[in-house]
Amino acid sequence: MRRTQAEDHHAEGPLLVARPVPRSAPAGLPRPEGGVPDEETDVPSYAAQAPLPAGIGDARAVDRDVSAAVGRVLDHVLADRVARARAADPLFGEDLAARVAHFTQAGGKRIRPHFVWWTLRACGGGDGPPVAAALRVGAALELLQTCALVHDDVMDGSALRRGRPSLHVAVAARYGDAAPPARAEHLGGGAAILAGDLALAWADDLLAETPLAPRAARAVRRLWADMRTEMVAGQYLDLHGQATGSRSLPRALRAACLKSALYSVERPIALGAVLAGADDATTEALCSAGRCAGLAFQLRDDLNDVFGDPRRTGKPAGGDIREGKPTYLVALARARAEAAGDRRALQVLERSLGDGALTRAGLEEVREVLTGTGARDTVETRITRLVAQGLRHADRALLDPDGGRRLRLLLASAADEPAPGPDDGPGDARQARAGTLPPFAGGAEEAGR
Ligand code: IPE
Ligand code: IPE
Ligand code: MG
Ligand code: MG
Ligand code: MG
Repeated sequence: MRRTQAEDHHAEGPLLVARPVPRSAPAGLPRPEGGVPDEETDVPSYAAQAPLPAGIGDARAVDRDVSAAVGRVLDHVLADRVARARAADPLFGEDLAARVAHFTQAGGKRIRPHFVWWTLRACGGGDGPPVAAALRVGAALELLQTCALVHDDVMDGSALRRGRPSLHVAVAARYGDAAPPARAEHLGGGAAILAGDLALAWADDLLAETPLAPRAARAVRRLWADMRTEMVAGQYLDLHGQATGSRSLPRALRAACLKSALYSVERPIALGAVLAGADDATTEALCSAGRCAGLAFQLRDDLNDVFGDPRRTGKPAGGDIREGKPTYLVALARARAEAAGDRRALQVLERSLGDGALTRAGLEEVREVLTGTGARDTVETRITRLVAQGLRHADRALLDPDGGRRLRLLLASAADEPAPGPDDGPGDARQARAGTLPPFAGGAEEAGR
């Protein structure tokens, strides 16, 4: 008889096991349909075979609120993961696992699951198993996003994320009274590395546990593997360009594409197309649309970093400038200033980029240079053109009228400025949902200490 994971774990010896690891449902979760014990199935854990929450398989209900549907899958899956983590060790469970779960459940705009979902619907998918599969894949993407963001904030030295202290800062603050500042900071950085690892592992597990037909499973695994690698490659190019002071425009675009456009838009679209069983021509047209919209999305993010309001973006203003990030916006301003022989603009850029202590007034000077050289307008124009080009690609695909309309809206709005207001975009659903989550129990610092 196959041994369960829990039995394998116990076989390592009692010293390694602080508490028994739950073999099936943690308290509070429903039994699987038919009450089939884990060891009699091929599925690696309870969560894998647990039915999703009631009503989740109804495509029309998901259409009404994609963020809420993905949120319910995350709640369900993460309750299991956190229970297992707490059973492995209560401190780890509270400090890391619950923190990763909370960050993911509170969420951001959830654009990646939206792209999966509306591509599925645009390609005529939606009844039966593809609904649950798309939601699980969407939830896995949100866990991958947690990994990306938590690690990114360490690499970018960024203290704010989604309007709250970033994870490494929150952990350091939690231990601020118990350890000297340098040690607490070291702990925060290490904890963020581990938290990102944990989120990635949970993302991979969730994807692996998603029941799929063999052909779709192969395609989904391939896409997922490529997407993870691309994202890491892009993050490396970003850091490398920062360290070497890269001024190359093509390299800036390449990094933006790899670190963001692919995993944020193009690959989620490709995943939705696979789940819908779309043909090659449709998939190709939609993926091309996704690449354009994805690049526009990152160019907007770069503009927001300099010109955006942290109360809307939830991220610090000027982080890319203080870190000396080789963004397309900055590379363009440099190229323009050089071509125009604008020595003052070049001096401002030279002394400000990478200046961690840059003041507000210093940042304002950089803004003036980015605007005065025309770089800001050029990036705005490029965003507009990319969005239009993306929509033209989408026009080549024969889509379901309703699903296609929603997908086009998403492609058109992914690079919009963040705006509060009553519409049905992902951000608003997220805010409504975040308001229903209890504050993170383990972190007094989350309340803004
Ligand atoms: C932030 O992604 C990281 C980038 C790729 C720019 P999002 O803007 O989708 O972040 P959340 O998930 O909504 O917070
Ligand atoms: C991050 O790019 C991309 C990933 C997280 C993979 P940025 O560093 O520009 O993202 P923000 O602006 O911090 O969200
Ligand atoms: Mg960053
Ligand atoms: Mg970054
Ligand atoms: Mg950014």
